[in-house]
Amino acid sequence: MDEARMVEARMVEALDDLNPAPRLLMGPGPINADPRVLRAMNAQLLGQFDPQFRAYMRQTSQLLRAVFQTANRATLVVDGTARSAIEAALVSLVEPGDRVLVPVFGRFGHLIAEIAQRCGAEVRTIETEWGSVFPAEVLEKEIRKHQPKLVAVCHGDTSTTMAQPLADLGRVCREHDALLYVDATATLGGMDLPADAWQLDVVSAGLQKCLAGPSGAAPLTLNARAEERIVRRRHTEQGLRTSDAVDGDGPPIRSNYFDLAMIMDYWSDKALNHHTEATSMLYATRECARILVKEGLANAFARHARASTAVTAGLQAMGLALFGDQRHKMANVTGVLVPAGVNGEKLRRALLSHFGIEIGTSFGPLHGKIWRIGAMGYNARPDAVLATLGGLEAVLAGEGFKLPRGAAVDAALAVYRESAG
Ligand SMILES: Cc1ncc(COP(=O)(O)O)c(C=O)c1O
Repeated sequence: MDEARMVEARMVEALDDLNPAPRLLMGPGPINADPRVLRAMNAQLLGQFDPQFRAYMRQTSQLLRAVFQTANRATLVVDGTARSAIEAALVSLVEPGDRVLVPVFGRFGHLIAEIAQRCGAEVRTIETEWGSVFPAEVLEKEIRKHQPKLVAVCHGDTSTTMAQPLADLGRVCREHDALLYVDATATLGGMDLPADAWQLDVVSAGLQKCLAGPSGAAPLTLNARAEERIVRRRHTEQGLRTSDAVDGDGPPIRSNYFDLAMIMDYWSDKALNHHTEATSMLYATRECARILVKEGLANAFARHARASTAVTAGLQAMGLALFGDQRHKMANVTGVLVPAGVNGEKLRRALLSHFGIEIGTSFGPLHGKIWRIGAMGYNARPDAVLATLGGLEAVLAGEGFKLPRGAAVDAALAVYRESAG
């Protein structure tokens, strides 16, 4: 086909209705959004300074405080995917030359280190093999050794499916006068992470995992210690300055969009203009948080833990081996080894085309070695787990992998029956 015909054919295709195939998204995220969240996103748009919209913003903060288990005043939403809040936190906290310690146990630790580097930090990383996490005493020893201004760590790293225990880290950071930032993108709402009780200074997340929404909004909370560090870098945008504006004496934050000093002013009662709010994403965030708070955090954590037990029981009943240190497995994502002789990508394609079910591939040192199966947010449901195990069994058998037919679904059903009884 010549170039002109190709362009024409592409345009015909582009004019088709948007009609995505039904899919069950059982990878490490995104997952299927709760239909209530999608409905909320259909609501009428409002201007960001409409009193009703400001009330929705305040309500969103209020609901998110419950989700983060915090009383932090500054609990807000960064517009963008989860990584936007990581950037906002780091660019606002890190002054060029600050030492930042990043414990790396998977891809997202590397991401934090890279962002901190771009912010001008003197980054010190410590690494552990993918599939493991750091013992608390190792983290304490490294903090004592490096004396960082900031420790920045991922809670659940979806690349390895491991969750770093964090209950003691906040205390240790305080003893060494370091701030603690936590990337809870993949665990908030699915695993317990009480920001105040664990003394986490800044925590951020995304909607597309345990919060049951689409990606595109990033909830973030920061406490008074973090606020103090950020506010001394406040430099109000020239075109918005009023005569009583007072700048901080610290170096300006090197990003305008991700300047948390300005974003806090925008979310506060000052309502100082910054970006044009992503209205529909704010509605989505409010609905995600509302649904979770209504369910009850403890119930949501138990639902994710149950789904995890059912998934692992099913995979093991099929004769598959789980990946990583199971004592530290995330509740919402499970890593499983691709068995010898099976082409992992071919199997994923078969699962998608025959069953409409997506599971995750892997990258870095795990590339081609494991699949990652998520059961989180709206999809941490028995029917989603059972359908995934059933489909996986069928396509594995189709690939010639010998397994006891029916055992996976039976094992997962037994977990659900036991927890109901
Ligand atoms: C732990 C973790 N952090 C950060 C991110 C980045 O999120 P996003 O792609 O929404 O920017 C992800 C996405 O998978 C993640 O799992």
